[in-house]
Amino acid sequence: MRGGWSKTFAVVGAVGLLAVSACGNSDDSGSGDSASKDVTVFTWWADGGEKAGLDGLVSVFGTECKDYKFVNSAVAGGAGANAKQVLANDLQAKNPPSTFQAHAGAELGDYINAGQVDDVSSLYTEFGLDKAFPKNLLDNLTVDGKIYSVPANVHRANVVWANPAVLKKANIDATKAPASVDAWIADMEKLKAAGVKTPLATSKGFAEEMVMEAVLLAELGPDKFTGLWNGKTDMAGADVTAALEKFKKILSFSNVDREAIDWPDALSYVNKGQAAYTLMGDWVAAQQLADKVPDTAYTYWPAPGTESSFQYLADSFTLPTNGKTPEGAKCWLKVVGSADGQKAFNTKKGSIPARSDAVATDYPKYQQAAMADWKSKTIVPSCAHGSACTLAQNNSIQSAMGQFSSGMDVATLQKALVTASKPS
Ligand code: GAL
Repeated sequence: MRGGWSKTFAVVGAVGLLAVSACGNSDDSGSGDSASKDVTVFTWWADGGEKAGLDGLVSVFGTECKDYKFVNSAVAGGAGANAKQVLANDLQAKNPPSTFQAHAGAELGDYINAGQVDDVSSLYTEFGLDKAFPKNLLDNLTVDGKIYSVPANVHRANVVWANPAVLKKANIDATKAPASVDAWIADMEKLKAAGVKTPLATSKGFAEEMVMEAVLLAELGPDKFTGLWNGKTDMAGADVTAALEKFKKILSFSNVDREAIDWPDALSYVNKGQAAYTLMGDWVAAQQLADKVPDTAYTYWPAPGTESSFQYLADSFTLPTNGKTPEGAKCWLKVVGSADGQKAFNTKKGSIPARSDAVATDYPKYQQAAMADWKSKTIVPSCAHGSACTLAQNNSIQSAMGQFSSGMDVATLQKALVTASKPS
């Protein structure tokens, strides 16, 4: 996937193709009762910048899908830490929402294989989405000739967010990333020596997993890194062991309460000057916007040693099998895929639109840079956010993270990763 999905594909003026037919005056049950109009939208975007992004979609839904009522079924917790389990239970109990959020890639594959989501290919033609998204993205979403979700965005995972005032205490240049993982470790030593107790702020589960992935990506390079998740790179290899040792070192510079907090708390340590860095996806840009943190108070760069890669994940929305109010859900999907919906969502969410026809100047500074990087960097998938790994793989890795956080035993961690990375 070198070069980015959007690179090779021309801008398509698909806005005009977006028919509103699916949002007409349909009434699912014909009964006209209010529940038949409810579109329950299941996400984990409950607060802050994430909620602001969701609100953007909701406002376009309010205009485009007047016959239906948005019902917020968000379950708080970064990266769906709580939501995914609630969703699994609801799906198991045959009580699906009207639509739910799922990451494009292996994670979506779980729901497809379990027969929990419907084919939405016909909506692509109906809404002009087959022309609005780049062909590589469509290929990536297609399973046996069918498409099962509508992507809302593309996020970048391998980003470090830093507090320049804290870096200054150790005379570290805030304007550019350390050149490598080793150089980053050296800077963390300097910060410690300058009295910064917690150079890196991180949080439980998926956040630690993201730090580990960034170190693996830096140390192995994009091709070998991608191979870790598709069986082409040996997870038991000595180069992986060496990278995990560096991950261990980096984690030793982090906050002791990391198992007790979520990513917004880790970010607030950086904003308050209690830590120098946090490594987190670019939903941080949205959180900073929502919290009105001035641009000058923070900086960001690709995780050290990963400058040439754009580690991506894409949030998409599904049409669950036997979900509530399917015609209303289709209208939600129309909004998610539309130019207006993607703009309302992504300008607030820190992500870039999945569509090819977005106008960069409509977006905040961070997303403008991300759009350029998306076109020029090597695209690699994220395990923590489902583009590379299934739900079961992530569950195993995240419990290994919890164990590693207290035991710090590299051999045990690597063994768990070897098991988890094998396709189930
Ligand atoms: C990811 C999701 C992002 C963001 C993040 C933190 O899994 O794709 O949109 O919500 O979790 O919660």
